[in-house]
Amino acid sequence: MTTRHFLTLLDLTPDELKALIRRAVELKRIRNSGEIYEPLKNQVLAMIFEKSSTRTRVSFEAGMAQFGGHALFLSSRDTQLGRGEPVEDSAKVISSMCDAVMIRTFSHESVETFAANSSVPVINALTDDYHPCQLLADMQTYYEHRGDIQGKTVTWVGDGNNMCHSYINAARQFDFHLNIACPEGFDPNAELVAANQDRISIYRTPEEAIKGSHLVVTDVWASMGQEEEQKEREKAFAGYQVTSALMDTADKEALFMHCLPAHRGEEVSAELMDNDPRSVVFDEAENRLHAQKALLELLMVGSQ
Ligand code: CP
Ligand code: NVA
Repeated sequence: MTTRHFLTLLDLTPDELKALIRRAVELKRIRNSGEIYEPLKNQVLAMIFEKSSTRTRVSFEAGMAQFGGHALFLSSRDTQLGRGEPVEDSAKVISSMCDAVMIRTFSHESVETFAANSSVPVINALTDDYHPCQLLADMQTYYEHRGDIQGKTVTWVGDGNNMCHSYINAARQFDFHLNIACPEGFDPNAELVAANQDRISIYRTPEEAIKGSHLVVTDVWASMGQEEEQKEREKAFAGYQVTSALMDTADKEALFMHCLPAHRGEEVSAELMDNDPRSVVFDEAENRLHAQKALLELLMVGSQ
């Protein structure tokens, strides 16, 4: 059987994604019931981090432990990868000793190169271009609160970044329409937009985009690696804060999501984050655990 990777949402079929979300809900129930389920006993997940993380590291590490396996934290500060050892060599070596590899890095191409040289499944845990694991949790969260997202309207407010790109892929795979509200100069990747024109609409104000939406999502204005652009971006994104008042113009059943970490007072108001029942950001964060366990099970057990 060929090794399956998860570098973007397009690596799974719409049916597989749907089944994975249902399985994540079931794995959440199993864990909450106290039942022991260890399908990955003696298996090791290598976790390569070249950027910071709280949710991603904790969810993968806890998920592997709950599954009876082990997770190995590899920071670029301490590995030879961080000192310039070629990605190809690192992939051959690490995959010869571990059962799956998770990578958070800058360039998407380096994850593709790693996967091309790996004998075990490789999972993209965020690159400058995509964050597909977050979308699994977001789709699970919507499903748990509101049911099927097929045919609904989702609005992305803010930067055309890695999360926005993964929402574009999700619009295709989960069959919803995506409105994107971003200032000029911060559009998502033009090729990705062109390839998904039938699924997305781009607006220049959040007010126009949000009207009637069933799910509203935002993210930080400056992503990891763009810290020096923070001030300039604060100016460009003025007027793009998602607030409870803005949410009032969405559908009456609308939910608010944010992958976190959030900057209250910038892309989201503190009131919406903390005191508005439409905000499901902490359910969304917890679901990283359950959705990724479903992913690990699919890639690691499914390919045994
Ligand atoms: N949402 C997310 O990926 O969070 P971390 O950066 O904390 O992993
Ligand atoms: N767009 C953000 C997501 C963090 C989880 C970043 O890349 O920093």
